[in-house]
Amino acid sequence: MKKFLAIIIFSLILCPLSLSCGSSAEKTPPAPEKSSEQCAMPADKILVAYFSCTGNTKNAAMEVAELLNAETFEIVPTQPYTTADLDYNVEDCRANLEQKDSAARPAIKNKIENFAQYKTIVIAYPIWWGAEPRIIDTFIESYDFAGKVIVPVCTSGGSEIEASVINLRDMCKGADVRDGKRLGIISKDEVKAWLDSLKL
Ligand SMILES: Cc1cc2nc3c(=O)[nH]c(=O)nc-3n(C[C@H](O)[C@H](O)[C@H](O)COP(=O)(O)O)c2cc1C
Repeated sequence: MKKFLAIIIFSLILCPLSLSCGSSAEKTPPAPEKSSEQCAMPADKILVAYFSCTGNTKNAAMEVAELLNAETFEIVPTQPYTTADLDYNVEDCRANLEQKDSAARPAIKNKIENFAQYKTIVIAYPIWWGAEPRIIDTFIESYDFAGKVIVPVCTSGGSEIEASVINLRDMCKGADVRDGKRLGIISKDEVKAWLDSLKL
């Protein structure tokens, strides 16, 4: 009899417990496992990536990086450009041949580490024959820019940035590609005012 009573008391205690556990598990599905991307640092940093052969774009990029307190990344060609490669007066110099060939993709020696941590990427380049150098196309095709903010900046002998921005927008589907700016011709204060206006 004692044993029978003990079984009943034991069942009465256990039953509501198991019921409540069962119902709470049904109401609250297990949290999905976080992917490595979710576990990574939040994408809120700014990177200034630049390509420069004779220093003008590098100077502009450094100024922008300083004003934005951003990290920098130099796009380094696997095969460096020599002075002869850049002599656009020679019709078949390397730079001219690359610009004439829309499929040319000069190789890049280095890679951005932890690209996911950047929300905004400033891409700085010289204008070659009215547009971005083909190595910038290589750079863009090397990463997934969807969801990122891209700020194009250039230096040039006089050409404007618009044609290259059209190309960048075409290549960076899903990215917010801003209008961009030609630098090297405006003061640091003007660069700062422009950057502020972007509200990055
Ligand atoms: C192959 C080549 C093509 C160029 N084409 C143009 C051009 O179409 N328009 C222009 O204004 N400047 C042109 N430039 C001049 C560069 O855009 C300018 O000197 C730029 O500031 C160089 O940047 P860097 O010193 O960072 O290499 C060209 C330069 C080279 C080497």
